[in-house]
Parts: sequence; C-alpha cells; structure tokens
Amino acid sequence: MTDRKRVFSGVQPTGNLHIGNYIGAFRNWVSMQEDYDCIYNVVDLHAMTVPYDPSTFRAERIHLAKLIMAAGVDTDRSLLYFQSDVPHHAELAWILSTITGIGQLERMTQYKEKSDRAGQNLGLLSYPVLMAADILLYKVHAVPVGDDQTQHLELTRDVAERFNHRFGEVFPIPERITPEIGARIMSLQDPFSKMSKSDPNEKSRILLDDDPAAILKKVKSAVTDSDRYVRYDWEEKAGISNLLELFSVFSGRSIDSLVEEYHDAGYGTFKIAAAEAIAEGLAPVRERMASIGDGDVMSIMARGAEVAQEKAEQEMKPIRAAVGLG
Ligand code: AMP
Ligand code: TRP
Repeated sequence: MTDRKRVFSGVQPTGNLHIGNYIGAFRNWVSMQEDYDCIYNVVDLHAMTVPYDPSTFRAERIHLAKLIMAAGVDTDRSLLYFQSDVPHHAELAWILSTITGIGQLERMTQYKEKSDRAGQNLGLLSYPVLMAADILLYKVHAVPVGDDQTQHLELTRDVAERFNHRFGEVFPIPERITPEIGARIMSLQDPFSKMSKSDPNEKSRILLDDDPAAILKKVKSAVTDSDRYVRYDWEEKAGISNLLELFSVFSGRSIDSLVEEYHDAGYGTFKIAAAEAIAEGLAPVRERMASIGDGDVMSIMARGAEVAQEKAEQEMKPIRAAVGLG
C-alpha cells in the first residue's frame, strides 16, 4: 500500500441494493478510488444480527459482491472481501467492547428500530462496536456512508478517542463522507421515511438491477402531492423533491435547471423523464451484472480475503501491544 489516505465502508447482504444505497454510499465508494486506498466489505457478520435464512445467505452474499463490482468498484485497485473471512474484525470488536458504554449503545436509533422489529439480541446491541472495529482496524481517514450512519460514525469516533486516551495514540479519528445531494433518499411510497431494503412494499424502492420498465412503473406510482408544479421544496413537496434529487444525480443536471424545464410540464411528463434518466444511469450497472459470473466473484473475494488477512494481522499487532496483549 502507498501512503495515500485510506477509506473503509461496508454494506450488509440483506436484500437487494437500491438507488438509495447507490446514491448515498456507492457513488462515493467508486469515486474515492481515484484518490484513496479503498477497503470495502460485504459485512455479513453484521447481517446476522437480525433473523435470516442460512440456506439463502451464501447466494445473497455473492449477489451483493457482484453488485458492488458492477456498480464500479474496481477490485484491481480496491480491496473487497467478506467481513467473515477476516477474523480480526471480531477480535478488535471484542477489545473495543471493553471501552464502550452500554447506555450509548442502547440509545442508537437503529438498535431501537431493529430490536422493535426483529427482537433484541446481544449482537444487535453491539453492532456499532463491530462497525467501529471495521473502520479502526485499518486506521482509515474517511468512511463513505449515507446519512443514516451518522450516529454509528459518532460512536466510532468516541471509541477511537477513548482508546487513544487510555492506551496511547493508535487510531486517527475518521471522517464521515456523505454526498451533498442524496445522503438520504426517501421511499417512493412515503417520502417521509427513508428508502429501505426492509420495506415490505417493493414499489417503495428502485433496485440497481431493475429494468427500465420496472423503473418507469415505480416512478409513475411514486407518491407526490395534489399541486401540479415541479418545485424543490422538502417542506411542501417532499415526493417531488425526492424525485428531483434522483433525476439530478442520474442525469448530472442541476436541480435548478430541472425545475426550470419541468416547472409547468405536469407531474406525468416529469415522472417519465425522471424514470428515463434513472434507467439510463443504471444501464451500465445492469450490463456489467450480466457479464460477471458467480465463479469469478468467488475467486475475487477469496483473493481479497487473503490480502486482507495479511494486512489486518499487521494492523492488529500494535493494537494488541497497546492493550497489553500479544
Ligand atoms: P444498508 O442498506 O443499511 O446496508 O446501507 C448501505 C449503505 O447505503 C450505507 O452507507 C447507508 O447509509 C446507505 N443508505 C441506505 N439507505 C439509504 C437511503 N435511503 N439514502 C441514502 N443512503 C442510504
Ligand atoms: N452499518 C452499516 C449499514 O447499516 C454497514 C457497515 C458495517 C459499515 N460496517 C461498516 C459502513 C463500516 C461503513 C463502515 O449500512
């Protein structure tokens, strides 16, 4: 590795990736490859904190790895692997858990939401400690994620500071990287809740591998309002503002120029144009998905794990030494 700054991020293999994931996180995963040494994970250990089906888990892990590659993560430049293949994540999580307060974990919004939905377990409570370990293991400087990870990143920073204070300066304090537009893409069916993999309504999200017809159908049925003018106004017109953000990101045009063109066009025309831009933007991802085989994915992931194990072992040595182990 060179002395460029490092980036780490992860995504859970729970359901298909949607355009919220893409805009909030993946676009940055891809663009940051230019300037940083990037390490990306399919965080399968995290996904086990809610009930899941072990018989489909393997296929889901492979599918997600393929989507990450299709979305533009170049495994010749960036390190990509399954979190569970490198046991150092769990080892560091244990060390960090000894300096993390339970109260802070119990206050995490995601813990409250998920434990209400899926039931409590110790893994779900300590989820953010494992995430902190993912990030701190490689002493990274930047973490590209969506808005919903803000609390987890704050906890990571707190834990890093506490560790440095107690055991000596080991960890840099990582920065959260979120996009200016699209850090929180909202559900197409309810513009007041975020687009989510776990929403039972499939029309609420557009998947990265949806075809143009499916995209058009979902955008047409997107919930808007009873006015007829296209304006960017989250207070009054959340549904339209959400579509404007999607349209802007996928077309590369500014929101102002879209508003100028579509202000009086009517929602029907606006929605068709937005759907076309989204479909066009996703076409390369869909094409690459079709061209990557499962066998290729498995061998790339195995190679990634091998490189990562060695790197993680090097990284763990000074950490173990700092806490009096090793
Ligand atoms: P997850 O689906 O929770 O594994 O999230 C993977 C990445 O996508 C994380 O960085 C999230 O912050 C991001 N993300 C998830 N949902 C959204 C959304 N609706 N808008 C923007 N980013 C999102
Ligand atoms: N918690 C993140 C999510 O739900 C996934 C994740 C796990 C992650 N470890 C990470 C993201 C480390 C960034 C860095 O989306």
